[in-house]
Amino acid sequence: MKRKIERIGLFVKWFFASKTVHSAHSPFLYNFIKDVISNKKKPTHLDDVLNYRKEVLSDKSLIEVEDLGSGGQKQKIYKTNISKHAQNSLKSKAELRFFYNIINYLGVEKIIEFGSSFGVSTMAMSRADSVAKIYTIEGSENIYLYAQNAFKKMNAENIVAINANIDDVVKQKDYFSEKVDMVVIDANHTYDAVVKYTEFVKGLMSENSILILDDIHWSKDMNKAWRKIIEDECFTLSIEMWQMGILFTSTSFSKQNFKYRKLFL
Ligand SMILES: C[S@@+](CC[C@H](N)C(=O)[O-])C[C@H]1O[C@@H](n2cnc3c(N)ncnc32)[C@H](O)[C@@H]1O
Repeated sequence: MKRKIERIGLFVKWFFASKTVHSAHSPFLYNFIKDVISNKKKPTHLDDVLNYRKEVLSDKSLIEVEDLGSGGQKQKIYKTNISKHAQNSLKSKAELRFFYNIINYLGVEKIIEFGSSFGVSTMAMSRADSVAKIYTIEGSENIYLYAQNAFKKMNAENIVAINANIDDVVKQKDYFSEKVDMVVIDANHTYDAVVKYTEFVKGLMSENSILILDDIHWSKDMNKAWRKIIEDECFTLSIEMWQMGILFTSTSFSKQNFKYRKLFL
């Protein structure tokens, strides 16, 4: 109940501060919104990923899940059914299309994803033509195994699935030996975790990378993390939508947080 009220407050504030594409003065931002964020075309490359998403959402089998710190579960390990768990964590079809489109538009080759869950978003990203490798990390072992099995079945050979707690990964500076073009953080939804994970991935990003933070209006805490991160000098342009935010490192943009009135439904 408290979280619901908090979210309504965040929504009202964001909605009235957000703008339409016509307020985007930079040509890059205007075209990016038109061609990527608001692109309504349905890529056929995603058909099997969307079928897999449907399968997961209707899978009534039980799974033992480890709560890694953000779900507010009473127990650390609990049993639930896959369908119920997926309903609370999977991206919408529109968000999956957006992921696919942004990668194609920017020609992203290497990606790190924090929070694979059942691997639906990972698989959607892996379908984009430019993608060479995606490292995706999931801490809950049974969920990781489920995703890994799906990656194999669907021949997603450009995905490197890792079963680890991200809190441990970010303690090891050299965990990843190469720079990446895109990072997606969609794991532990707490202020401390998001700020800490961002600090870690900054070291892996080049001058033309993007960071996508999910659920930036999920709670006051998550929104506080977003507000802190957009102030970081490492990021220039940021686009704040309802469900997620995108941050660019390119110095060819002037520093700006553009609140774009977009809900992925
Ligand atoms: C919202 S879901 C990810 C959804 C997925 N990206 C998608 O759209 O299909 C978040 C996932 O992050 C995992 N997670 C949360 N905290 C983690 C941590 N500290 N280490 C590893 N995984 C974590 C959870 O187990 C959960 O499966």
